[in-house]
Amino acid sequence: MSTQTPLLTTPPMPLQTDPVASAVREGLSAQRKWLPAWLFYDAEGSRLFERITHLQEYYPTRTERAIFTGYADGIIDAAVRIGAEAHNGQQGSLRMLELGAGSASKTGILLDAAVRRQGTTEYLPIDVSATAMDEACRGIAVALHGVQVRPQVANYVTDTLSIPPHAGPTLALYIGSSIGNFGPEEAVAILRNLRAQLRAGDSLLLGTDLVKETAPLLAAYNDADGVTEAFNLNMLRRMNRELRASFDLASFRHRAVWNAVESRMEMHLESTRAQVVRIPSLGLSVSFAAGETIHTENSYKFTPRSIAALLDAAGFRTAETWNDERSWFAVTLAAIDSR
Ligand SMILES: C[S@@+](CC[C@H](N)C(=O)[O-])C[C@H]1O[C@@H](n2cnc3c(N)ncnc32)[C@H](O)[C@@H]1O
Repeated sequence: MSTQTPLLTTPPMPLQTDPVASAVREGLSAQRKWLPAWLFYDAEGSRLFERITHLQEYYPTRTERAIFTGYADGIIDAAVRIGAEAHNGQQGSLRMLELGAGSASKTGILLDAAVRRQGTTEYLPIDVSATAMDEACRGIAVALHGVQVRPQVANYVTDTLSIPPHAGPTLALYIGSSIGNFGPEEAVAILRNLRAQLRAGDSLLLGTDLVKETAPLLAAYNDADGVTEAFNLNMLRRMNRELRASFDLASFRHRAVWNAVESRMEMHLESTRAQVVRIPSLGLSVSFAAGETIHTENSYKFTPRSIAALLDAAGFRTAETWNDERSWFAVTLAAIDSR
């Protein structure tokens, strides 16, 4: 990788308040260039992610869906029990909150179980993508009666979470192995931040992708139809559109690699030639050496022990875990016992 730092081609701009601009400035000014994974999710990125979830090679979505299909009633019962235990049996109905809800298609299975149990429920999806929130609301309105949806378009990394009070227990969902996009310290910080918004008797349902042999991992992030490649390259298209950047998409290629030391899949965009990319709205020119990459995503793979350690560090008590038959994915319910 090149150690060249970007050149300022115009005088420094005033402080950036737009989160996209700030993230791009920080990431592309770093010695090892990187961009946060939430930048994937403009309207096109959300559409491409939805296609990824249907790919033959992309096992996480259908594996987690199978766990929900098999155990939804048990998951809802356990969350209700945690609430009842904390409040001596006195409590209102369970509601659900979700970080990074996307189209919420798997969540529908849990909402359906909650409605069967208690008649109605409230659902508070939070997502940085307005397109994803629209799709989630439409899907739930069509398929599920008895669910009151209160969507929020917000970034749970850069914005302060604001969760309205509720008389009963809250089950917070953080599924799809989204926690795997963050390094160990940031993952703990995100869960701690979420916990600070919850009360004793509330719980967290965490979906995590597990360590497994390398071949299915590489295939899942290198699909034959090139949908993941398009998803990765779309970040450049987004910067061209929103920041008037001059990325030539044909001179970057998608790379997905397994990093065994860090226990994570990594996605990169590799510059196929030496080049300078201008981002006029940031007053930035970014130099790339041939072969240099922008690190666009981490997807950490967990073990039962690393999940327990993460939850413990964030102040949750692991209550129950559900797995698929191959133990490729884990869904863990964790309780908040007291402040
Ligand atoms: C990997 S997808 C998972 C979607 C869904 N939860 C699932 O399990 O299929 C990540 C979702 O989280 C959203 N997202 C990513 N980073 C986010 C952030 N920092 N704040 C809010 N939403 C975010 C994306 O827009 C996307 O819909």
